[in-house]
Amino acid sequence: MFPVAGLGTRFLPATKSIPKEMLPIVDKPLIQYAVEEALEAGIETLIFVTNPRKRAIQEYFARDEALQSHLLAQGQHELHARIHDIIPAHVSTAYVIQSQALGLGHAVWCAKSLVGNEPFAVLLADDLIRAPATGCLKQMVDEYHATGVGSIGVEEVPASMTDRYGIVSVERADDGRDYIREIVEKPSAEKAPSRLGVVGRYILPGEIFALLETVRAGVGGEIQLTDAIAAQLTSQRLLAHAFDGVRYDCGSRQGFIRATVDYALEHADLRADLLAHLATLKR
Ligand code: G1P
Repeated sequence: MFPVAGLGTRFLPATKSIPKEMLPIVDKPLIQYAVEEALEAGIETLIFVTNPRKRAIQEYFARDEALQSHLLAQGQHELHARIHDIIPAHVSTAYVIQSQALGLGHAVWCAKSLVGNEPFAVLLADDLIRAPATGCLKQMVDEYHATGVGSIGVEEVPASMTDRYGIVSVERADDGRDYIREIVEKPSAEKAPSRLGVVGRYILPGEIFALLETVRAGVGGEIQLTDAIAAQLTSQRLLAHAFDGVRYDCGSRQGFIRATVDYALEHADLRADLLAHLATLKR
C-alpha cells in the first residue's frame, strides 16, 4: 500500500499541481522507486491511497499504448523498454480515494476492504532507500517469512530530530532480533524512548484495521498509524528492522537533493560530468 494523499507543502509551489511522489530523482518519479522496491519484494497487488486532486499518479501508471507504438515506430527501443514494463502484467493496481486529510492512520484504514485480514506492507515513497543488494522491503519480507512476525523499518536519528518521526524502543530477544517494546509518534528528545526512528516501511497484520477504528486523533490532530501500532503491541509482536541501505528523506529539500546527486552518480552516462562539475564548485 502506498499512501500518496499528502499535500507535499514543503515542495510548494511545485506540488501545487504535481504530487510530491511524482517529483523525479534523476529520471524516475519517487513513487516508481517505491513500486520497484515492492515488486522486488514479490508484492503483486499495489494499492495507492490517493486524494481526488492527484490524478497524475494514476495517469502515470496507466499503460500508454499510443506512446509505446510511437517509440517502437521510431526505433526507440531503449526508451520503449523504460515505459513498457513499469508495472508487469501479472501485477494489479487499485486506487482508493482518501477524501479528507485525516492522517497516515486514516489513509491506511481507507484501504481496509481491499486488504482484508491479511498481512500487508506500507511504503512511504518519500522515504527513498538505496540498498546495496536486496531492497529494504524484500529484506523485511524475507524476515517475515523466516519469523511470521511483521516489522517496521528503523534507523537511528539525531536527538534533535525525534519529533519528526515515530520512535521505537526495542528489546533484543534470544533469536538475536529486536522486538519493539514501545512506539511513540514524534516525541520530544526528552520524551523519546530511544533514538530509533521509524522510516516509511511497514509489514503489518490485518488486525491493525480494527485498531485504526478505535484510535483517536493524536499528534497534529491526525489519526496516527503509530498509535494503532502501539495498541497492536499489546497482543502481537513486531520487529524493528534496521535495514541495510541508505535512506533519503525526500520529503525534505535537503534529502531530495542528496538523493538526486547520489542517484545521478550511479548513472554511468552522468557520473563523470557531475563529478567534474562538483569539483568546480566552491563552498
Ligand atoms: C510518518 C509517520 C512517522 C514516521 C515517518 C517516516 O510521519 O507518522 O511515524 O517516522 O512517516 O517518514 P510523516 O513523515 O508523514 O509526518
